[in-house]
Order: sequence, then structure tokens, then C-alpha cells
Amino acid sequence: QRAAMQQVSMAKERREMKQAQANQLIDSIPKDLNRPWEDPLPESGERHFAQELRSINMSAFDGAPEWKKKAEKKTLSYGIISNKSIKEQRESLPIYRLKKELLEAVSKNQILVVVGETGSGKTTQMVQYLVELGLTKNGGMVGCTQPRRVAAISVAKRVSEEYGCALGEEVGYSIRFDDMTSPSTKIKFQTDGMLMREYLADNDLRRYAAIMLDEAHERTIHTDVLFGLLKDLCKRRPDLKIIVTSATLDAGKFSEYFFNCPIFTIPGRTFPVEILYVKEPESDYLEAAIITVMQIHLDQPAGDILVFLTGQEEIDACCETLFTRMEALGDLAPELIILPVYSALPSEMQSRIFEPAPTGARKCVVATNIAEASLTIDGIYYVVDPGFSKQKVFNPKLGMDSLVVTPISQASAKQRAGRAGRTASGKCFRLYTEQAFKTEMLPTNIPEIQRTNLGNVVLQLKAMGINDLIGFDFMDPPPVATLIGALESLFALGALDEEGLLTRLGRKMAEFPLEPNLSKMLILSVDLGCSDEILTITAMLSVENPFYRPRDKQAQADMRKAKFHQAEGDHLTLLTVYKAWEAAKFSNPWCFENFVQARSMRRAQDVRKQLVTIMDRYRLLLLSAGKNYKLIGKAITAGFFTNAAKKDPQEGYRTLVDQNPVYIHPSSALFQKNPEYVIYHELVLTTKEYMRNVMVIDAKWLVELAPSFYKSADPNKMTRAKKKEKIEPLHDRFNPKDAWRLSRRKG
Ligand code: CDP
Ligand code: MG
Repeated sequence: QRAAMQQVSMAKERREMKQAQANQLIDSIPKDLNRPWEDPLPESGERHFAQELRSINMSAFDGAPEWKKKAEKKTLSYGIISNKSIKEQRESLPIYRLKKELLEAVSKNQILVVVGETGSGKTTQMVQYLVELGLTKNGGMVGCTQPRRVAAISVAKRVSEEYGCALGEEVGYSIRFDDMTSPSTKIKFQTDGMLMREYLADNDLRRYAAIMLDEAHERTIHTDVLFGLLKDLCKRRPDLKIIVTSATLDAGKFSEYFFNCPIFTIPGRTFPVEILYVKEPESDYLEAAIITVMQIHLDQPAGDILVFLTGQEEIDACCETLFTRMEALGDLAPELIILPVYSALPSEMQSRIFEPAPTGARKCVVATNIAEASLTIDGIYYVVDPGFSKQKVFNPKLGMDSLVVTPISQASAKQRAGRAGRTASGKCFRLYTEQAFKTEMLPTNIPEIQRTNLGNVVLQLKAMGINDLIGFDFMDPPPVATLIGALESLFALGALDEEGLLTRLGRKMAEFPLEPNLSKMLILSVDLGCSDEILTITAMLSVENPFYRPRDKQAQADMRKAKFHQAEGDHLTLLTVYKAWEAAKFSNPWCFENFVQARSMRRAQDVRKQLVTIMDRYRLLLLSAGKNYKLIGKAITAGFFTNAAKKDPQEGYRTLVDQNPVYIHPSSALFQKNPEYVIYHELVLTTKEYMRNVMVIDAKWLVELAPSFYKSADPNKMTRAKKKEKIEPLHDRFNPKDAWRLSRRKG
């Protein structure tokens, strides 16, 4: 027992030491605004096999980096090389041999679970088989949901080619802010979130003859909710066919949930994969991945490489380094074609990953989790797996989600390794120890519904008329505390009333494909007369960081950015950037001169247009407040009052909700300005909790715009220490004694 106690105290000591180290790191961050700032990242040796958000700010500029241009040029000039016709390709897929049996099973059963290795043809073939079966004869569509936007687009593109039509005609896709369908569409790929929105408009989904819930093993929050909705719908629509597909073998659970429906298995066609572990834990998995790729390229026989990283910044950084190192080798090494894959990448670039490398060259695809199961790339012999992915995790203390780099599960690791054994036997290089695989990784992923913010989903369920959330038939119910949190925050926003029923405001909010605080802000801005500006701000907040900061020109980029800075904060800075771009006739050269990402700006323009359409539909007026920034500030407060923080006399800020210490992000226009009260858009966790996109507010606005959430403290009852801080939250959302509302709703 003493040994155990000793261990505990040692662990505590280690933790304290690390904390001290982190504090030192923070102190070393330059506080002088004239000097370029660095993102406060932990040292590479500090990255551990545990959660850490890595926000390296080196996002790529449209086509600017040399490696990107080259990668583009090279693959383009070779064009598509394939020795098989599309018909031959289709007929060589494992699913083809079982087509008859599969269609028979579909005809006989309303619900079917289909299991098969990634690449067996589930997604691309089954939708076409269903059309051949005649399901769409009476005008109904075959819908197929995808957890990821990129997968929806890429698979729709492929199927349109196989089908022999232009994308958007018989075969189309629909994702948020981008609808590529037409009246002739028979096969529609869409994100699971989009189908949920359609259910909101028509809860019989009459436009569909069949629905395929694809990639169900991913267990995204929307797929999980659709499970419940479709399970209910299939009783009302006995003619509707439902197919649930999974790449892994947890199908028994799906079948059990769907009234013990039959499971159809497509036998795999995989080759053995040799698994190699590192002997010692790697402290820097990015560097380790780069070295491993180089070694494979120089030592191993022909065959393409697939590297799994966590996000765009990492992937771009990896590709850039690989490119530079390969260039340094010159003619000493065969050609390596480096191809990044992540969702923000333009789709022309994405389709290049499927093209084979020319003879003598090797392809290296550097991808996010998307290549784990949603995308199939042929010819991969080597997989490099650092063992991490970025996951959305709900932080109940903050009441919001953050993206956190977390170790993957054992199931994911196996799935990743399997990508190397599709064409012949391959190798998987795991950049973690066998011990870590066995003891530090969970057997399977935790369903998203059990780890993320439910605000949006709860609002949509309420808008569908589903009031009893505790009784909703979830396959794996979310934690009750998270449900309460979501109900409370919707109540505070005014979307739900005391009884937990949807208000008129809540109904309007549900119409926007936005998080509840954004839609509240937008709707309130109409009343406040500043919807024109808030619309732009909403669009700008919905896209990737528009500021480009190349490593060799950081000072210059920072100077340009500082010209846009507004004393009121970052929201207005974003507005100013958009307006300046608009004044420059939305020009690309303007973006280039000002270190602004043209792609983000065009996307913001697009999002803005789509939101205007929704505003028009509900007769919400576009009103400009001109330079009256106070109104804009109030509208933002109306949506984001929970994200308020007050200056801490010691250092940094404290959130009003729970006194959590937070700091203004060094990239903010308010960094070092330190106003008394601020509202932030989001928190980023690096060495400390940083507020990103921060705005100055007047504390009175909180009481004015969120009277059910804040009150002015009674001056008679205040201690002297408390007198300074006059605003306090009315109730503590995370305190169980405030959970009475839920019990009332239940009863
Ligand atoms: O859904 P599942 O993982 O079972 O397979 P799939 O996505 O239907 O892919 C079947 C085959 O289609 C793959 O092996 C690829 O050769 C091809 N494919 C493609 O060339 N381009 C795509 N965007 C998707 C699939
Ligand atoms: Mg698939």
C-alpha cells in the first residue's frame, strides 16, 4: 500500500513540475505586440500520448506552397491512367459476386445490415443496385448518408462517372451550404446532418424510396439520431427500405437495435499486414512520421504510402517538410508524389489521390481520419500510423466542445492497418509501442453522442416535435448531464420555455444550419437593426481562419493584419476584412497583398449568400447599422452571453459562468488591451485556455440581453471584495440542484 501511495505522490509531483514548466513557457511568450508572436505550443518533447490540441498556425495558402503546385502539376500531366474499364472495375469488386443474393435480401426485408471490408463496393455499388432493382421507379430517391462532407462529394463524383451522368443530374450530393442535386436526381449522397434537416421539413421523408445509413460504425451524433428517427419511421412507411452499413464487425449491435434484422456479410478480400511497433514511445509523432515515410521510400519495394495525421495544419506541415527533404535528395531518390487529403481541400485536388502514380514514382497520401474507412485508395502497401486523431469532445465545465487530439481506439488502429492489405500483403508502421496499443487505447471509439455538445441536436429534435428526450430510443443514450446542459443552454437562449417546449424564437433558430448561439445572434440582429453586419460576421466565423501567416513573412503578415484590427475586437476585425475585400471587388490579388486566404473569403461569401436565402424565406430583413458597433456588440452578446469573461486583477481573465481562468489569444486584436469584460467565440486549449475571437462588451448588456441567465448582484448583500464584480450568473448550470427543470419537463 505504501508503494501505491508513493506512486500517487510521485505522479502528483510530476504533474506539478509539468505545470511549472508550462507556466514558464507562457511567461516566455513575447508580450510586445510589435514583435511577431508565436503560438504557445508545448515543446515537441512535451507531446505525449495523451490529449493535446495542436494549433500550429501554418495553414496553406491557395496554391502558394511549392509542394502543392508541384504535386498538382505532376499528377495533372499524367492524367488518369487505368488499365481497366469502369465496367471491369465494377465487376471485380467483392460485392458484385453477391449482387443477386444481396438484392434478394433487400427485397425480402425492410431493414438490412450490411457488413464488408472498406473497398468491397458497399457505398458505390449498392446505391446503383437499388436503382436497378426498380426502387426509384415511382420517383422516390435512393439516399445515402455519409459522416463526412468530403466523402459525400468524392463518392458522388465516382458514382456519377460509373452511372454515366454529369454530377448533380441522376447522381448528386447535398452538404451544408452546397446542394448539387436536380429534379432528375435518383441517387443522392448527403451528410447525415443534412438528412436530419430534411427530416425536420418532412418527417415521413417521402422523397425517398430507400435510405442507406453508410459508415454506421463511425457512430456520429447525426447517424445515431437518425437511427432513432428511422427506427420509428419504418413503422409509418412500410415501403421504405433501410440499409445500415458498417466496415467493422460490431454489426450484431446494429441488428439487435433494428428489430433483429438480418446481417448480410460481404466476405473480405484482404491480405495479411505485418504490424511493426516502435520500441520506445515517440515524443514527436510528426517528425517520426516524416522519417518513416523517407525510410520506406528509400528502402522498401514499390507500393504507395498512406500516412494518418490529425488535421490540415499537420498535414500541410508534413507535406511541406517531405517535399523539401525530397528535393534536397535530388536525383538520389526516385520520385515521391506527395498528396494531402483533408476536408478543406478543393475537390479537384482531392480526386487526384485516386490516380495511380506513374511508373518509377511512388505516391504518398497524407490524410486525416477520412482515409480510415470513408475513402478507399488503391495500391497502398504501407501505412504509417502515429495513433492519434482529432476528436470533438464536450467539456462540461466550459459547456462547449473542443477539438482535442486523442489516441485512437484499437478498432481504429486495426482499420488503419487494414488499408495496407487491399492489393497485396503490406506493412503497417505504428509509431507507438505495443504496450501503448494494449493498455492506453480503448477497444472501440466512444460514440460521438456520448462525448459532444448536444445543443444543436436537442433543438432539432424539439423542432421535430420530439419532447421526451430521456425516452428517445438512442442506441447508446447520451449522459443525462449533457442532456441537461443542452436543455439549460437552449432555455437560456430563449429557444425553450420553462416547460422545455420550443418557443417561436426556437423554431426560427432551428431553421438555420448553424449552432444555436449563432442562429440566436443572427435572429436578434434583425431586431437590433444590424443583420447585414452580423450576417457577414457569422459567415466569417464559419470558415477557416482567413489570415495567412507564412513562416518566412510572419512580421509582414502581422503588420497587414494589424491594419484591420478594430478596438472593439476580432468580430469587427473580421467584418472589416470582409468589407475591405468587398470594396476591392472581391479580388484575389487583394487577398494576396493582404495576407488573407482567398479560399476562406470566397467560402464566407458563399455561406453568406446561402444564409441570405434562408433569411429571405422567413422574411428576416437585412438591416445595416453602419458604424454603430454597439448594436453589433449587443447582437453578439445575445447569442454568446455564456462565453463572457471578466478581467482577473491578478492576470488574464475568469469566465463568468464558473470562474475558469482564460487568456486572450495572442492573435487577437485585443491581446494586451485587456478590457474589463469580454465575450469570446471559442476556447482553444494549448498550454492554457485561450479565448479566440474576442470582443469588448459592456457588462450591462449581459443583464439586458440574457435576463434569465444573469442578474445584477444586490449591492446591499455584497462583500467588499464582491462589490467590484456586479454581474453574476443567475444559476449554475452544472450544479445538480438546478436540474429541477429537467425533472419538471420529464413529468
Ligand atoms: O463502401 P466501400 O468501402 O465498401 O467501397 P466503395 O467506396 O464503394 O469503393 C469501391 C471501389 O470503388 C474502391 O475500391 C475504389 O477502387 C473505387 N472508388 C474510386 O475509384 N473512387 C472513389 N471516390 C470511391 C471508390
Ligand atoms: Mg463506403
